[in-house]
Order: sequence, then structure tokens, then C-alpha cells
Amino acid sequence: MLTLNKVSLTYKNGKNAVPALEDINLNIVKGKSYAVIGPSGCGKTSLLYLMAGLIQPTAGEIRLAGKGPGKPQQKTAIILQEYGLLPWKTVWENAALGLKFRNVVGEEAQKILYPIFEELELTECLRRYPSQLSGGQKQRVALARALALRPELLLMDEPLSALDALTRENLQELILKLWRKHQITLILVTHSIEEAVYLGQEIVILSPRPGKIRAVVTNPGMGSKGYRHNQLFHQKCSEIRSILEENGQSEHTSQVCS
Ligand SMILES: Nc1ncnc2c1ncn2[C@@H]1O[C@H](COP(=O)(O)OP(=O)(O)O)[C@@H](O)[C@H]1O
Ligand SMILES: [Mg+2]
Repeated sequence: MLTLNKVSLTYKNGKNAVPALEDINLNIVKGKSYAVIGPSGCGKTSLLYLMAGLIQPTAGEIRLAGKGPGKPQQKTAIILQEYGLLPWKTVWENAALGLKFRNVVGEEAQKILYPIFEELELTECLRRYPSQLSGGQKQRVALARALALRPELLLMDEPLSALDALTRENLQELILKLWRKHQITLILVTHSIEEAVYLGQEIVILSPRPGKIRAVVTNPGMGSKGYRHNQLFHQKCSEIRSILEENGQSEHTSQVCS
């Protein structure tokens, strides 16, 4: 679905060059879910922006299913860190924003959005403003906005990191359910080992900046019933932790599982 070939990114800050990502090779397979984990500042957000076509690599190439090197793609939705909601717009207006940019408004937008509001249990709060929502509700509005675009590829940047533990687990379940139901290709950035193992069929581990791929770990138990309580889950968490610790980079990752 998406191929990154020897992708590097260097930010130019006046005279300074900040190398953010180096020699990233990745082959994203349609319908699979990927978790990207690595220490703070290693280039995770930059990697998502590259995949969304919002920025261009300094070297290397990104290809989306047969198309040429990327521009922002119609079939891609991205959920930014901190939800990306506009505080002066209602839940309804925030969720409809992506559609509006694509000139889908009025009844047509309603037809798409109402089933999604039902699915995400947002119907009760359509007239509220983001400040009147809980963290979990805000994240569901961001999800509604993304799903309304019927994306094939959904990119999420630390979507759950601001939430309390229980809300976080509920939303992890929701993301899993949506991923299955809508058969989306999912790429989720997280700094939580547990979340990466719960939601990623493949776990991409980045090194400290400039981010390079340290390992891609296959996680065959992902999505199985009661995985969180399974011995295999805890083994996989340890495996990821060991790889992160090899480079003394575990300090920024969560300590949820031991
Ligand atoms: N626009 C920018 N200009 C210069 N440096 C940047 C810019 N955006 C990010 N960086 C730097 O690039 C590195 C990677 O950033 P980012 O992708 O946000 O990392 P992460 O999401 O893993 O925390 C960081 O060192 C950051 O300071
Ligand atoms: Mg980031």
C-alpha cells in the first residue's frame, strides 16, 4: 500500500541542519496495523507527516500503491497529536471539517456522519464545544472526522497519550473494532510499549534522533481475545522493552507492563 525507500529527512533551521530521520525502509501492507514506537524527538511525528504526504523527504522516495511520490492523498486521514479540534467549533462542525474541505456538505455530509456518530456514541454531544467534552470524547470526535473521509490509510499520532488508563483501554478497544470493521490500514504512533503491543500487528522500533529503524517486530497475537491478559502479550512487551533498552532509550516509554 505504501513503500518508503531509503527515506531521510533533515529540517533546516536557519544555518542549522537537524537530521530527523535516516534511511527508513518500510513496506506498509494494505489492511495491516502498525505501531511506531521510539523515544521522544526521534522523528515519529515527522514520519507520519511524510506518510501523509504533508512534507517531502530530503532523500529517498515514498510511494502510495502504484502512484508516484506523494502529495496529500485522498485516501489518507491523519489524526494529529492533541486531537486537532477547533475550540470555537461544535462537535458536529469539527467532525464535518474534513468533508467540508472536500466540498461534501449539507445532507450528503449528514448521511455520512450520522452512522459514525452512532458508532462512536457521540450523538448526544453534537452541539457541544470541545471544552465541554472529556478527553475520550474529544478523541472520538477526531476519529469521527477521520472516518468520515472513508480512509484506506489512517495515521494516528499518539492518539491516547493524554487519557487516563481506563479511557485509554476503552479507546484501544474502539480503535481495534474500527480497524477490523472498516478494514483500514492503521499506523499508530505511541510511546507506550503496552499500546504498541495491543494495537500493532507489526511494531516498528525507532532509534533516538536521527530516527532509524532499529527493528520491526511481528506480533502475531495482536487482536486475539483477551490478549492483554495473555502470557504472550507480556512476553512481547518484554521483547520490545529489551530492544528499546539496548540503546538506553527506555526512559521516555511507559512503564505499564513489566
Ligand atoms: N519544523 C521543524 N524544524 C526543525 N526541527 C524540527 C521541526 N520539526 C521537528 N523537528 C525536530 O526533529 C526531530 C524529530 O521531531 P518529531 O518528528 O516531532 O519527533 P517525535 O514525534 O518522535 O517526538 C526533533 O528533534 C525535533 O526537534
Ligand atoms: Mg511527536
